[in-house]
Amino acid sequence: MAIDSSKRILGYYSLRPAIWEVRDKYNKIVGTSFELELAMIGVVKELQGKKNVGMPLLLDAFEKTLAVSKIVGGIERLWVGPLNDRCKKFYKNAAFTKAANSQRMFIAVGEIADALAELDAFIAPDPL
Ligand SMILES: CC(C)(COP(=O)(O)OP(=O)(O)OC[C@H]1O[C@@H](n2cnc3c(N)ncnc32)[C@H](O)[C@@H]1OP(=O)(O)O)[C@@H](O)C(=O)NCCC(=O)NCCS
Repeated sequence: MAIDSSKRILGYYSLRPAIWEVRDKYNKIVGTSFELELAMIGVVKELQGKKNVGMPLLLDAFEKTLAVSKIVGGIERLWVGPLNDRCKKFYKNAAFTKAANSQRMFIAVGEIADALAELDAFIAPDPL
């Protein structure tokens, strides 16, 4: 959750497990795979589109995803189900890719790690 100095809620998100069936070439379920999904993300109406709450919330979700993937094996992607075209653009700007044959979008855990490392280098450059 994002709050301001007077503890007013500015936005929130939640993550949940995404469990997929794995099928063989005969379409028989042969197992399950477990990944993570951004169940919801929202910014208070007056701050939507102002470019100061949604992306920091998403970056926080990236950090949590990376942390979970380090303890729980098998998590390779973070998934989202965009509600509309504006949401799709928001996720595309954050490097999500559209899945084949689906409206859902995902970002690989490796890409999340790279993005966060790049951001760290940008925020805290090496001392001279
Ligand atoms: C989607 C959302 C979380 C993005 O956070 P944000 O802080 O508004 O994001 P930004 O200010 O960085 O805006 C970036 C992009 O988000 C999208 N966006 C902005 N306002 C939006 C809105 N009301 N609804 C959906 N997407 C929106 C646009 O693509 C925008 O880019 P643009 O202004 O250049 O067209 C936020 O707008 C929101 O809460 N929307 C309503 C709830 C919602 O749609 N949640 C997502 C469900 S998939």
